[in-house]
Order: sequence, then C-alpha cells, then structure tokens
Amino acid sequence: RLAFVEQAPPDPILGVSEAFKRDTSDDRLNLGVGAYRTNDLKPYVLNVVKKAEKIMIESEENKEYLPIEGLAAFNKATAQLLLGEGHPAIKEERVATLQSLSGTGSLRVGADFIGKFLPGRTVYLSNPTWGNHKNIFTDAGVEWKEYRYFDKATVGLAFEGMLEDLKAAPEGSIVVLHGCAHNPTGVDPTREQWGAIADVVEQKGHMPFFDVAYQGFASGSLDDDAWAPRFFAERSIEMMVAQSYSKNLGLYAERVGAINYVLADAAAAKRVLSQNKRIARALYSNPPVHGARIASIVVGRPELFAEWNEEMGMMAGRIKDVRQTLYDELVKNNPDKDWSFVTRQIGMFSFTGLSPPQVENMTQKHHVYMTKDGRISLAGLPSNKAANLASAIVDSFKV
Ligand code: LMR
Repeated sequence: RLAFVEQAPPDPILGVSEAFKRDTSDDRLNLGVGAYRTNDLKPYVLNVVKKAEKIMIESEENKEYLPIEGLAAFNKATAQLLLGEGHPAIKEERVATLQSLSGTGSLRVGADFIGKFLPGRTVYLSNPTWGNHKNIFTDAGVEWKEYRYFDKATVGLAFEGMLEDLKAAPEGSIVVLHGCAHNPTGVDPTREQWGAIADVVEQKGHMPFFDVAYQGFASGSLDDDAWAPRFFAERSIEMMVAQSYSKNLGLYAERVGAINYVLADAAAAKRVLSQNKRIARALYSNPPVHGARIASIVVGRPELFAEWNEEMGMMAGRIKDVRQTLYDELVKNNPDKDWSFVTRQIGMFSFTGLSPPQVENMTQKHHVYMTKDGRISLAGLPSNKAANLASAIVDSFKV
C-alpha cells in the first residue's frame, strides 16, 4: 500500500505555469518559464523549423529506432555548432557526443557518468543556479555544493568570491558553468573574467561542465554565445558540455540536445562514448528522432543556418526591446531607484531582487506569475504590458 506517500511540492519553475493556468484574470502574465513568445504571446515555430520539416516529409523519413548515441548527422552538427566548424578537437575525433533529451536529459546522463567514473568528486553549482540542476545531481547520487556567483549589492558577478570558492574546492572537482545568459541572474563573466576562471580550473585540475541552453539568446549571435566553451577548448582543458535546442530552435517539446565530452585524445573519447551509451540505454534506451533531424538539417545546410541566425537575432532582439521598454516604465514609475540592472542583464531573464513575499504580492495582487527567486522571463512579456508590470514591481518593492 502506498498510502504513506507524501505530496511532492510543485516544481519551482514548471509549477508556476500550472498555477498560471488556474488564474482567470485578464491581467494575468506568465513570466515563469523561460519559453519564447511573440509580442502577441503566441508560441513561435521558427521558419527554419517549418522548412526542415517540409524537407523531412518530402524525403519520407522512417521511424526506426535511432542508435543509442543518437542521429549521426545531428551529433556531427551539434559538436560543430558548439565548437565551430573545422575545430581541431572535432577533426582529431576527440569529442564524444551523445544525443540526449534536451538540456535536462543531457545533464542527467553527464551526472550519472560523474557518479560512475568520478566517484567522490563534488559538483560545484553557482549560487544561485537553475533550479533543476540540484534535482539532477541529487537524483544521480552526486554530491553538490555551491560557489558564490551573484552579488546582491552590485547586482553583478561576485567575481572574487567565485574565484576564492573555486580555489578552495578540492582538486578535480566538477564546476558547472553556464555557457552564456546565466539562468536565473542574466549576469555573465566578461571575457577577461572567463580567463581568470579558466586559470583556476586549470591550476586545480577541475572539470568544467558547461550547460549551454541559451546559445544565441545572449547576444543574438550563435557564434559569440559559444565563446566561453570554445575558449576552454582552445586551452585544451577537458570538459563536459550539455546542449539544448529548446530555446534557440524553439524545439521545447521535441527534447533535442546533447552531452559532449571534449577530451585530450580520440581513444579516450571512444571509450567515454561507449560508457555514455551504456548509461543512456538504461535510462531511456535511445533518443527521439524528429527534433534531431530538424536540428541537423538547420545546422547542416548553409542557407538554413544563415536564416536561423537571422531568426535567432530577431528573437533576441525582441527580448532586448522589451527589456528597454520595461526599464523606461520602471524609471517613469520610480525614478529614485537604480533600475539599470534590467538592461545590463542578458538572455531571457531579469533577476529583479524581489524577495519571496514581494513575489507573492506580484502574483496574488497583480496576477504576475514568476519564480520565487525573483526571476522574470522577459520572453513572456508583450510590450503593451510593460507599464502594468513596472507598476506591479514598484508596488511590490514596497511590501
Ligand atoms: C527555465 O529555466 O525556465 C527553463 O529552463 C525551463 C525549465 O525546464 O525549467
């Protein structure tokens, strides 16, 4: 009998969407989940995705099982998107790539790999980080701790604290780093700061584990947003990288992503891939094919790739515009407070600094749904609601 089972708490991010659906107010706004919407709040299917699907229908693809490691064309394309075409690590076959279930599934395969092959190593997560990171490593039975990342006083990077914590971590620790557009803070290290982070990682023999879920959403350029993992690869630091196509190709429900290991030699890459296949086989057997075909077509065909870059720039541009509109409205509402963090932060989110009771006020009084940590997803904000949101934020700061 399972009568003893207790109710699990709602998910801190996806639970917000569940609560939003129960609200019937016309003013309701879902700024919880990081999912791109158009300015009319419509989900957006990219034109390049529609074109790739047309190509797929015309070529009458079948629905046979994929190999455990996924679609070969996708794995090639995704490593290329990450490291850049013709990268020496790809040419020398030093990259082990396994297609997996978007960011979460890829991180989970990586976490299980750490549990099996790097036992006793601690994973260091930024404080704060994406809520699901903790679940993933906890459920994989891997111990995690936090390193300082966000400085409330400056609403910026706690750079010195971060370096101190990474220096104090035992040698060979795993350091989870957000490739770009840090979730939830929207605060990324500068290139110079990445250099200092790489120095510590190298000195301490740490293993960086990049989570690349927003490639294209920070700057609008797919290449620029891969700068940090490419920089580590150039320095020949072995690393793990999880990728997601949920946001940048809008393939949320297709679960497309990959776990990559950029290693020192090809023989190790082959063995590491074989062990990842072993892990994936027991978790879900083999990955879904539809989204992987889409991604491989878009990344692999120059004319579609160029068009994707344009669409990516358009999506990132809408978020930048709505950031600016929100900033202007906030200044209008309360010119005495420094709101510059709104336009300084990058990616889909703004980390407002609202406390949990203030977030409660946002939701209960103003019907604005957001995560308890004070994060709002600007991807869910239409420009004509920015004024309402600004007055709700100013009001809630008074709580
Ligand atoms: C988010 O942070 O909102 C997204 O990554 C969606 C998710 O799965 O949590």
